Amino acid sequence: MSNRVLSGIRATGRLHLGNYLGAIKGMIELQNNPQYETFYMVADAHTITTPFSIEELRKNRQEIIIDYLAAGLNPEKSTLFIQSQVDEHFELAFYFSSIETIARMMHLPTYKDKVKQYPKNNTMALLNYPILMAADILLYRANLVPVGIDQEPHLEVAREIAKKMNQIYKTNFPEPQRFATKGEYIPSLTGEGKMSKSVEGSYINLTDSLDEIRKKIRKVPTAKTAGGPIVGGIKTLFMLGEIFFPKNLYEEFKEKYHNQTLKFAELKDALVETIFAELKPFQERRKQIASDLSYVKKAIKEGVEKARSVAQETLKEVKEKMGLN
Ligand code: TRP
Repeated sequence: MSNRVLSGIRATGRLHLGNYLGAIKGMIELQNNPQYETFYMVADAHTITTPFSIEELRKNRQEIIIDYLAAGLNPEKSTLFIQSQVDEHFELAFYFSSIETIARMMHLPTYKDKVKQYPKNNTMALLNYPILMAADILLYRANLVPVGIDQEPHLEVAREIAKKMNQIYKTNFPEPQRFATKGEYIPSLTGEGKMSKSVEGSYINLTDSLDEIRKKIRKVPTAKTAGGPIVGGIKTLFMLGEIFFPKNLYEEFKEKYHNQTLKFAELKDALVETIFAELKPFQERRKQIASDLSYVKKAIKEGVEKARSVAQETLKEVKEKMGLN
């Protein structure tokens, strides 16, 4: 059994705290475990499944690699690459599409959400999103995928495709599992739903300054007094506290909340300081890396080559087994 890991982030904008806690932390943990061989990409082709700007996309592909490097991904340990530079992803996705039904794809909650969000963009690429993602993962025979919990339906599709391919064509794909982190669900600062790039006011960027973080956290809606049910913005604050505070401090805030002695400003200010302390080293490293783009470009070039050689092997086998070679 191989111990391969693959993950990716769409190039829709700069990374936020939700990506960092839900995916990148898990990516780093697995990279640093010598048992695993890790492949991390920028899912730039997935970006074009919803409306996008060409200029932004062009820029964000590299920016995300810089974020990866600044967060602690190391090109000596992980294969870092850009999805669209490894053509095999699209070829495998097409072969996979022959065993997946339209009905199954149309029922996915992620698909329905996107159609609701962009009714004029109900495209084939959007419908095919999970198939391309399955190809991303299975091309490397990855059995572990560090992503947020919202991606579980897509992993289920990847497992189904692996099983079906193995049954019909006698391939040998693993059934990939999600690797969950403590921050797999980061709630929105608005108090409703999850932290998301596509919802204004919901997120903290990894590059936000102390002042920007303060402004955003202060805006999180709370209640007139402490002591009520922990819902909405209050829940967001406590969930962030649970992740960022040492356990005793978290318990202390919670107790104060329940006996109604908590001032929300106090909880918020403590959160602002702790979140910024976590982001500051990232921001410093990021500046340094962004000033040496030749290092970034070299990491990508080597990553693409390595990814391609693994991808070609898998694709060759699939073509042979499907009678295409
Ligand atoms: N769908 C993922 C997301 O939105 C991004 C992604 C594309 C991905 N391909 C992947 C994640 C392969 C893990 C593995 O977060």
